[in-house]
Amino acid sequence: MPYLASETRYDKILYNRVGRSGLKLPAISLGWWYNFGGLDVFENSRAIARRAFDMGITHFDFANNYGPPPGSAEENFGTLFKQDFHPYRDELIISTKAGYDMWLGPYGNWGSRKYLLASLDQSLKRMGLDYVDIFYSHRPDPETPLEETMGALDSAVRQGKALYVGISNYNPEMTRRAAQILKNLGTPCLIHQARYSMLDRWVEGGLLDVLTEEGIGCIVFSPLAQGHLTDRYLNGIPSGARATKTEHVWMTLDNVKKNLPKTQKLNELAKQRGQSLAQMAIAWVLRQPAVTSALIGASSVKQLEDNLAAVNNLKFSNEELDRIDSILRG
Ligand SMILES: NC(=O)c1ccc[n+]([C@@H]2O[C@H](COP(=O)([O-])OP(=O)(O)OC[C@H]3O[C@@H](n4cnc5c(N)ncnc54)[C@H](OP(=O)(O)O)[C@@H]3O)[C@@H](O)[C@H]2O)c1
Repeated sequence: MPYLASETRYDKILYNRVGRSGLKLPAISLGWWYNFGGLDVFENSRAIARRAFDMGITHFDFANNYGPPPGSAEENFGTLFKQDFHPYRDELIISTKAGYDMWLGPYGNWGSRKYLLASLDQSLKRMGLDYVDIFYSHRPDPETPLEETMGALDSAVRQGKALYVGISNYNPEMTRRAAQILKNLGTPCLIHQARYSMLDRWVEGGLLDVLTEEGIGCIVFSPLAQGHLTDRYLNGIPSGARATKTEHVWMTLDNVKKNLPKTQKLNELAKQRGQSLAQMAIAWVLRQPAVTSALIGASSVKQLEDNLAAVNNLKFSNEELDRIDSILRG
């Protein structure tokens, strides 16, 4: 069946301005790190992507290496773009990144101009796009001058291959320097993509202040801590859940078990607010004025729909915030 996007797609979600730019992003965006790769069920990925767009999620986030295998999330999007989303290109914000291992040899990772610009060309080819909306440096490179990495982002814009640029996983001090270099080049830093959730609050230690001062937006990734902050693990570890298939240090079975007393209490509080734990976790990151969008993942349409309903209750009383802090302190 040809895809026809819902006519009411803009009625359901909020759009927030990205820093001091002209661009707005949905309060909740969809990440393609997991669940959209070559090993996943394509029709499930398609159903999630279509439902997301039908519910006003105009922003899909990629990196060169998303899959597995690396590159396959972009390839699958390329197929979906051709078949489903092509008529909606001007309603979509597509981002991609380069910074982690992508191909063999010294030019297939980190932050050189050689790697970043070659990687962007490869991403565009996989996705069948003429340009991406946002191109990111995925991580700071301790060995490449920051001027070179930022210069490559600026070139991507000047070559018409990206409309905006961003950085990800940069600490506050490097963020300030990167912003200054980009400003001098005439290509302002649009956005910073940073990990933030109730279980990982590092951005509160200075990054959000820098972003506010510099007028840079913040899109936070893994607001559900990869599923810890949902009901997914409250009664054991279901087969197929991410904790059973990833080796990421912050997503181990041990961590899931260790956090259980906290997540159970948070789940009770969420119920009192009339929300699921996932909805409360998303609302909690969005309470920060510096946060433009919560970048979530979902392995089913049901999870996606649960998460999008977070926007129905974004307010917290001071008592609720204190209660969350006290639960997190343990
Ligand atoms: N810049 C970076 O360095 C970086 C790093 C990581 C991620 N990201 C971006 O951020 C995006 C989101 O990251 P993430 O996938 O870790 O985000 P997340 O939203 O914290 O975790 C998503 C996972 O949580 C589970 N989940 C989601 N909604 C649920 C619900 N309502 N009920 C129960 N379980 C639910 C699912 O796990 P199951 O699969 O087990 O069902 C889902 O795959 C990525 O796709 C990527 O675009 C960027």
